[in-house]
Amino acid sequence: MSLNNISSNRDEWSSKTAFILAAAGSAVGLGNIWKFPYITGENGGGAFVIIYILCVIAIALPIMISEVYLGKKGKSNPVKSLINISRSENVSKNWKIIGFIGIVAGLLILSYYSVIAGWTMAYTIRTASGVLNNIDVNDAANIFNNLISDPERLLSWHTIFCLITGFIVAKGVRSGIETAVLRLMPALLIMLFALVIYSAIEANFLQGLKFMLYPNFEIVTWNTVLIAMGQAFFSLSLGMGALLVYGSYMPENISVAKTTFIIASLDTLVALLAGLAIFPIVLSSGLEMSQGPGLIFQTLTVAFAGMPGGQLFGTMFFVLLLFAAWTSAISLIEPFITYLMSKYNISRIRASFISISTSWVLGFGTIVSFNIGSNIRIFGLTIFEFIDYLTSNLLLPIGGILISVIVGWCISRNTLKNDRLIGENLLSFIWFISIKFVAPLAVLVIMLNAIGLKIF
Ligand code: PHE
Repeated sequence: MSLNNISSNRDEWSSKTAFILAAAGSAVGLGNIWKFPYITGENGGGAFVIIYILCVIAIALPIMISEVYLGKKGKSNPVKSLINISRSENVSKNWKIIGFIGIVAGLLILSYYSVIAGWTMAYTIRTASGVLNNIDVNDAANIFNNLISDPERLLSWHTIFCLITGFIVAKGVRSGIETAVLRLMPALLIMLFALVIYSAIEANFLQGLKFMLYPNFEIVTWNTVLIAMGQAFFSLSLGMGALLVYGSYMPENISVAKTTFIIASLDTLVALLAGLAIFPIVLSSGLEMSQGPGLIFQTLTVAFAGMPGGQLFGTMFFVLLLFAAWTSAISLIEPFITYLMSKYNISRIRASFISISTSWVLGFGTIVSFNIGSNIRIFGLTIFEFIDYLTSNLLLPIGGILISVIVGWCISRNTLKNDRLIGENLLSFIWFISIKFVAPLAVLVIMLNAIGLKIF
């Protein structure tokens, strides 16, 4: 049995591999290589990693399957897909709120994502030009601080990244994404493996491994759990409509569950490899584990400086990271673009211009958070920290709860059976139980506890 064809004549990925690569391109990005190591460093290591992995398996994976499914079934932009599904399932059209939450979250995330991607561009040029050859830990810290304390430079890089992203999405992305990801993802994986090997030979590998794997649960609070869960949503591109849009281009005969499982595994592998590459270097160079967003830019440049061929190797690495950031940035903005196009009947070029400009302006907040506006606080957080907290720890998980509820409670069992999501084997039964009960309750309990309403 196939899905209801709610609207026909839509674009489709050319193959199962193309879908996997595009979704993996969305998932694997700065979240894995920049964010995962630094928030693991800030949250004490091992226990955080274990909680993160549990969140991926028990919460994120079931929701991810559901989000891709909603796209495959709704066959439209995030808002319209939800309207299509509520119509065919006879439930309230208000479920389209899932689409709106996603669009807002995507814009906000992209606003800081492109600033950080800008750092990656700056470091690509710096490594390539050789100015980072032979630097030590102190130089690395100074160089990084000089960059982030200069709002004009940050604005320039942010603008360049927005322009290029805008250019790609305006042209239409599918074939571009497919071919780029197919070539770049394996190269990124190989580079990461090489960095792990460098770390194992040159740095304090065992201590790094211990930091990453040995759990100290005493330092874990509900907020730690919320951050780990938020990171799982962020890293898997979950809860904001990106996977929904990608799922909407999915050919009929592909299994949602199997392909999603592959993407989640790949994403987690990349994050763990990044940790394995970075923590030993931090430990042997005396850098601060909990220094925050600058962690990889400082550790990796020190590592490359000490490596034979470090200049070439470092440049390649930052270029690949940049490509990984691009394939994710595209998926962050695509939901808004497709929404604008179908809602206001405007061209892709115009929709891209509006979306990217909005996110560009929002990015000013993040830029000044590191310099002239570092004193501006919202609930005690800088603007960047606030946007990050709001999106990863609140908006994406709320999107996740709503996705679980509509799939677990509103779509009929018969439909799920017809669409081959349940009824085939034990795993599909486990998925159903988790999407109906485990995932939404876990997200709710974690969120309520972390924001202070102790419900136990
Ligand atoms: N998953 C991407 C990363 O890890 C970021 C992202 C989040 C992309 C949400 C799309 C949607 O870098």
